[in-house]
Amino acid sequence: MKHGRFITFEGGEGAGKSTQLKRLAARLQSQGREVVATREPGGSPGAEAIRGLVLTGAADRWSPVAETLLMYAARRDHVERLIRPALARGDWVICDRFADSTRAYQGAAGGTPPELIASLEHFILEETRPDLTLIFDLPVEVGLARAHARAGSELRFESKGLAFHERLRGAFLAIAKAEPDRCALIDADGSVEVVEARVWATVEGRLAAHG
Ligand code: TMP
Repeated sequence: MKHGRFITFEGGEGAGKSTQLKRLAARLQSQGREVVATREPGGSPGAEAIRGLVLTGAADRWSPVAETLLMYAARRDHVERLIRPALARGDWVICDRFADSTRAYQGAAGGTPPELIASLEHFILEETRPDLTLIFDLPVEVGLARAHARAGSELRFESKGLAFHERLRGAFLAIAKAEPDRCALIDADGSVEVVEARVWATVEGRLAAHG
């Protein structure tokens, strides 16, 4: 069966993922590839509705386990309705955040048991796993300053405090180290153009061989 490539972008707040995702999508499209650019939580109508529930309100609106289940309800809908059909058509799917965000935010930083998260990955994602995950790394202070500068209404996670965000950064670094075949660390400290060049070099290096 024809099968596209699945690339996810991960990291803390204010790392410039969304800007870089648009640039990578445009570059791949200019090479003649069909690209679906999407995000989590969200990416399908049902998942976007859940996004509204999890990203607004007080920082303690949901417990970490309840939040994990909401993320996975959204993710399952997104995977079923958008990601799997696109990959089956042979499209490349680029997703702003995916399962590693749940491991880092709800798991490592929030305290949801890793066994629960692992079993959700097993039963809910099944074989739908990223071929490549770019982990955007940035000092916490730099990222939070950038996130506050563009502050919109979705501030639940930005408001959680420095220690939470330090744990998060450590969790993403640990994921990159534990799964080096799937993950690549991107130094996100630099101009948009400099980081874009790092992203492109990594995508070409990791995925060009696969056609
Ligand atoms: P964004 O700011 O990159 O759009 O991400 C939205 C927020 O959702 C961000 O603060 C991280 C959070 N999030 C989780 O906590 N768990 C998840 O599984 C996902 C996908 C996002």
